[in-house]
Amino acid sequence: MEKIRVFDTTLRDGEGTPGVALTPEDKLIIARHLDRLGVEAIEVGTPITSKGEMKSARSIIEEGLRAEIYALGRIVKEDVDAIIKSNVKHIHLFIATSDLHLKHKLKMSREHVIQKSLEIIDYAKSHGLIVEFSAEDATRTDLNFLKDFFKIISEAGIRRINIPDTVGVMTPSKMYKLVTEIKSVVRVPISVHCHNDFGMAVANSIAGVEAGAEQVHVTINGLGERAGNASLEEVVLALKMLYNKETNIKTESLYRTSQLVSKLTKVPIPLNKAIVGDNAFAHEVGIHTHGVLASPLTYEPFSPELVGQIRKIIPGKYSGKHGIKAELESLGLYPTDEQLGEIVRQVRALGDKGKVVTDAELMKIGKDFTGQNIDDKKLIELIELSVMTGTNMTSTASVRIRLNGKEFSAAETGVGPVDAAVRAIQKITSNLVNVQLKEYRLEALTGGSNAVAEVIVKVEDNIGNTFSARSANEDIVKASVNAMIIGINRILLKKKMKNVKS
Ligand code: KIV
Ligand code: ZN
Repeated sequence: MEKIRVFDTTLRDGEGTPGVALTPEDKLIIARHLDRLGVEAIEVGTPITSKGEMKSARSIIEEGLRAEIYALGRIVKEDVDAIIKSNVKHIHLFIATSDLHLKHKLKMSREHVIQKSLEIIDYAKSHGLIVEFSAEDATRTDLNFLKDFFKIISEAGIRRINIPDTVGVMTPSKMYKLVTEIKSVVRVPISVHCHNDFGMAVANSIAGVEAGAEQVHVTINGLGERAGNASLEEVVLALKMLYNKETNIKTESLYRTSQLVSKLTKVPIPLNKAIVGDNAFAHEVGIHTHGVLASPLTYEPFSPELVGQIRKIIPGKYSGKHGIKAELESLGLYPTDEQLGEIVRQVRALGDKGKVVTDAELMKIGKDFTGQNIDDKKLIELIELSVMTGTNMTSTASVRIRLNGKEFSAAETGVGPVDAAVRAIQKITSNLVNVQLKEYRLEALTGGSNAVAEVIVKVEDNIGNTFSARSANEDIVKASVNAMIIGINRILLKKKMKNVKS
């Protein structure tokens, strides 16, 4: 089965989001992430626009990424010349084809549009550029003209045609019909580019694929003009999970890429945004948390790890005993049934007053009702960490840890300082408490050499108890070690409390 190509336009159409402006450095960071994510094409911008756009296109080209790098140009020589100057080798040319645009914006006849398009395609090709061609406002263009236009253009030696739903007016059934019609007259691959004015961009993109489109234009977090473009993460997951169609996207990196783009564009991600929103795998309602704790698929369509997220049980007005108990245990508190009942009542009472219960508040309520003091419960503590690393040497880390009141130290080597430090901790803990690191994820939350790194780990003991833990620090090694220590401490506490009870 052919994979559906992902053409990412976060850096071009996404940057069109009102209020967003990216520096060339920001664009380079995002391009690197997109490349690692696995997109086939990255549209980096419009080099004719400014010195910064030219600089960013050039620097992304110099990076030698695996993805094809595209730049957008109108059908005018100046735009093509700027793209040639930027060293970008793939050009996305566009011209509007709807009568509305021809009459009011371009003041051009249909014939003129065809003739000019062919002329510029020839010009771009004669300079070695590979062309993808869009008919802007295609979905409001007279169908017969659109078919003639795409047929003529597609026979001029271009790589692909793109069908933009520029103002998001399509429905899935209309999109399906349109792509089927266009497919009947062109021999080159077809791409779709859907805007979200009616919240239909993802559904319309997928309908396009169902009708035979080989590529989707998308943006991270659905960024874009007005209501935005089809969101990469939603299209990719829906194709995979609901339509059994694969892409090249490494889905485990979606959350991290989404966070990075949100930070650099300063556009917050709505909590309830599908796939990458912070609530996408969060559960509060008692019936749900009970179900999820028993078997996650009861209230999750797929596992959060698939998209780089983690499951969260959130205390609140609708919480039940199971969820609060699990949450308290993950904080290291083990109430009796009676205490648990009191805690749940307290959490609900706060909800009635319109208050949201954070982890810190739950911890306080838990401590008050159980009389347990979590601060005394650092069963494992880092005493000392030192790493040695260099260009021509293997990294070495030595750690000193206090575990159940006794000190242990270990030194290990690794491919880098993080690997060495994690191995050293594992060396101590795997022998003594049988805790294994099951997952390790590093997320650079900001750019620059002083970027804050967030490390998320999942640790597991020998009977399958798993705990996730996060830690953020400007020093990646410290963040990694802290996250591991927090996770291991949670496992140790759980073991200890179970032993006390039994
Ligand atoms: O939405 C649109 O029509 C576009 C074109 C430039 C392809 O972004
Ligand atoms: Zn667009």
